[in-house]
Amino acid sequence: MTQSREVLAMMDAHTTTFGRKNGCTISRCGAFLLSVFFLVCLVATGFLVYHFAPCLDENPRKSCIDTTSDSVISTAKAFSTSSIKKKTENLRLPRSVLPDLYEVKLIPFIWEGNFTFNGEVKIIVNVTEDTKNVTLHAVDMKIDEGFTSIREYSKMSNRTRPIEILEQRNDTERQFHVINTSGTLKAGKQYVVHLKFIGYLNDYLEGFYRSSYKVRNQTRWIATTQFQPTDARRAFPCFDEPAFKAKFQISIARPKNMTSISNMPRRGEAKPVSGLHWYLWDNYETSVPMSTYLVAFIVSDFEMLQSEAKNFRVWARKEAIEQSRYCLSIGPRILSFFEDYFKIKFPLPKMDMVALPDFAAGAMENWGLITYREATMLYQEGVSTNGNKKRVAEVVAHELAHQWFGNLVTPSWWSDLWLNEGFASYAEYIGMNAVEPSWKVLEQFVVHDLQNVFALDALESSHPISVEVGHPDEINEIFDRISYNKGASIIRMMDHFLTTEVFKQGLTNYLTERAYQNAEQNDLWDALTKQAHKSNALEKGVTIKQIMDTWTLQTGFPVVTVSRQYRTGAAELTQERFTLRNGTIVTYDEKQPLWWIPITYTSESQLNFNKTQPSYWMKAEKTITINDLGASSSQWVIFNVLETGYYRVNYDKTNWQLIIKQLNKENFRNIATINRAQLIDDALNLARAGKLDYSTALDVTSYLAHETEYLPWKAAFVGMGYFDSMLAKMPGYDKFRKHALKLLDNVYKQVGFKDSINDPQLTVFTRINVLNWACDFGHDDCVRNAVAQFQNWRTTPNPNENNPISPNLKSVVYCTAIRVGGQTEWEFAWQRFLETNVGTEKDLLLHALGCTREAWILNRYLDWAVTENSGIRKQDVTLVFGAISSNIIGQPLAFNYFRNNWARLREYFGTSLLTLTNIVKSTTRGINTKYELKDLLEFATEHKDELGSATRTVQQAMEQAEANIRWLERNHAAIRDWLVRNTA
Ligand code: BES
Ligand code: ZN
Repeated sequence: MTQSREVLAMMDAHTTTFGRKNGCTISRCGAFLLSVFFLVCLVATGFLVYHFAPCLDENPRKSCIDTTSDSVISTAKAFSTSSIKKKTENLRLPRSVLPDLYEVKLIPFIWEGNFTFNGEVKIIVNVTEDTKNVTLHAVDMKIDEGFTSIREYSKMSNRTRPIEILEQRNDTERQFHVINTSGTLKAGKQYVVHLKFIGYLNDYLEGFYRSSYKVRNQTRWIATTQFQPTDARRAFPCFDEPAFKAKFQISIARPKNMTSISNMPRRGEAKPVSGLHWYLWDNYETSVPMSTYLVAFIVSDFEMLQSEAKNFRVWARKEAIEQSRYCLSIGPRILSFFEDYFKIKFPLPKMDMVALPDFAAGAMENWGLITYREATMLYQEGVSTNGNKKRVAEVVAHELAHQWFGNLVTPSWWSDLWLNEGFASYAEYIGMNAVEPSWKVLEQFVVHDLQNVFALDALESSHPISVEVGHPDEINEIFDRISYNKGASIIRMMDHFLTTEVFKQGLTNYLTERAYQNAEQNDLWDALTKQAHKSNALEKGVTIKQIMDTWTLQTGFPVVTVSRQYRTGAAELTQERFTLRNGTIVTYDEKQPLWWIPITYTSESQLNFNKTQPSYWMKAEKTITINDLGASSSQWVIFNVLETGYYRVNYDKTNWQLIIKQLNKENFRNIATINRAQLIDDALNLARAGKLDYSTALDVTSYLAHETEYLPWKAAFVGMGYFDSMLAKMPGYDKFRKHALKLLDNVYKQVGFKDSINDPQLTVFTRINVLNWACDFGHDDCVRNAVAQFQNWRTTPNPNENNPISPNLKSVVYCTAIRVGGQTEWEFAWQRFLETNVGTEKDLLLHALGCTREAWILNRYLDWAVTENSGIRKQDVTLVFGAISSNIIGQPLAFNYFRNNWARLREYFGTSLLTLTNIVKSTTRGINTKYELKDLLEFATEHKDELGSATRTVQQAMEQAEANIRWLERNHAAIRDWLVRNTA
């Protein structure tokens, strides 16, 4: 997931694709089974899957697939339903033995030809129920079974008594190491479990892994950790579930010329390591009680900078350490901001932040030792962009928020992961706003997080925020936009309907009550309900659980349709689930979900866009009536003020027309900026779902010709991106391009092709977006400027040191020049990529390298992306696939590459399917022909047992593709007509 967040943050949503004409004919088996399919599905979904599955299993290639009818689509649906199989049952640890204190000692050997570590762990455990075994997690390590011991431990006498071990066994399926004893371990007693082992410093970026970088062509190695969610078990045997909190006493041996760091400060001086004279032991202080996934340690030769108080430190390669100044300046301020926000002091004595050359996610919130990839922590003034700077601030704030929400109070199990990630994803905006108020980030939440996840949550293959998970694959799968963005959106909704004061006090109570323990969503709901009732922010009979269960346990989100009665001034509000499949396919789900929806609105006469406390609630009711809206029949009303509710709004035709009229008047700013972005996003998506005619939706967007603000434009660009990717190879695309350029004309003139240091952040972002689109559509002035600036750089002496292009313009200049240029431009950028010392610059270049139209270069680029030592790190492969997939020539190449090289990719990424999931996402996003869908389905069927955590993503990709195909069938003509009518 996280790599995808990285990549998505970099990419605009204009993926493009095209497919070939359909060619296959329906086979008899296919025809027969398909009729069975439709008949049975009317009766029961379960039956349907049962009847259909053999066809998929026995002959996936020929018998079931037909590209000439709707059957590909139904087959995709059948795959989705049948492939959801239960993973191994009972993967959870028994609760009879609970860890209290770990003493972990590790000696990593960090050089070519070795890459192993010796380890020893002593765990003091409490037995809560009589038992004859100790079961804990261990993966990919060799445990010295002859060494293992269990001793009864008496704290009083500090004496131990050995317990006889019967046998030890590895349960590889469940990643358990089981130690059976002859005698019974007694409830109420303490024991010491002692194990010795050898582990492996892998290069899959999980567990205890190795990372490297070069200085003057010489490789430097480091050893570092990434444990969330289930990889602490790769570093030492442990009770690797979040509810098994314990204290940790870590000791790391490191070569004398390197340093080590861990969650806690070092205790005393470094000590000699017997038998290894060039190594020293660093012994760390005992931690507070914490979950295993938050443990971290790093051995490196990094440099460090520290805050004045010396308790906040930043670490990076010597050559990059100066780039950590920005992080060091905002980090301590955000940390102390959160201390005030939560009204709880940060409990650890120090905070370290480390920028790692190889890191799978964007960053990781290990308690007191936050790890980052370089591009999310390091910022170089004059080289990095405003967007890079914002990314650093947002990631720092996100991980710091976790220090309370997640680390101090931790979900009991991964099904509540969304609480952690959703909260941190919301709080990152609040933390960022505290240190950079001029950026106006709170406004941006709606377009970046909320509207962004609507697209995914509108799929039937979406999932509830709160899901049952067991297998590590399933756990990894939920680090997705539903947990992050939807989580954040519904938490924001609470902040508004409860009021911030009540919300914050409820949070403080929850965190204080559950500190150093675990919690479930119900615990948070209880704390908020109590506070809400105390402060009269909620009706007495109503609980937060009642409201929020409708948002966390059900999939999807509602659209509220407002039908006004213009004569009486009343309105009827109806809710239903918003899906892209509306009316196109049989719905298997009989029960229609209903939500508790906070209703806010304003009208042309009130113009009150500040009141975000609900005037009404739809209490899981299908319909409610508002008797008097307070608007005359000639005045518009707009619901969901500032889009604080997680829902879309549709109106009757007249109200849409009133809104369109207002948007086209000079005072269109009477409607708040966020709500203008909402209107664009809602209108385009309602049309996409068949709930609003396209001509109305497009009429809503016409006013953009006068719009200059970031939010409405950003919403429009996302919508435009969808059009672009669907229409790019269709006849009539020129009309679309012409129309888009016409809309952009005014705002292009406003922002211009010049970056100015004094411009507000949002102006800078608007400029980048506008220029990227204008250049993409071939805007003369734009392309000319971009090419000239790139050529200027190419002819500058020493281009590594001297880049004359203003940082914010780089993305558009690089991409455009490489797109319209040839091999020379590409090779130049590739050299700069290899040679730059700045992580953010590497990202920009990697993205731009995907812009070329030369198919052979793109294919070579794909190959390099998965070749050891090519210069492209494993952490960046998703970025490369993402960049190529957002290029119209590249998308089918990337899709084919991933299908044809599945085995190679699997081997390259090892057990971690994270990257593959992201590759699936990006390469399939633009699919809009049955032929490509058929390919995808064939691939999915053939590999259905190997998809692991990519399973749901594949289902979502198929549903998305299916929706795209339907969309083209239904709307292409209407859109073409509108464009013909509206482009002179
Ligand atoms: N806890 C995650 C890191 C993580 C993600 C670990 C996936 C294991 C699997 C961390 O807090 C996080 O969410 N990082 C984000 C950055 C953030 C600003 C959204 C990321 O890695 O993209
Ligand atoms: Zn997080």
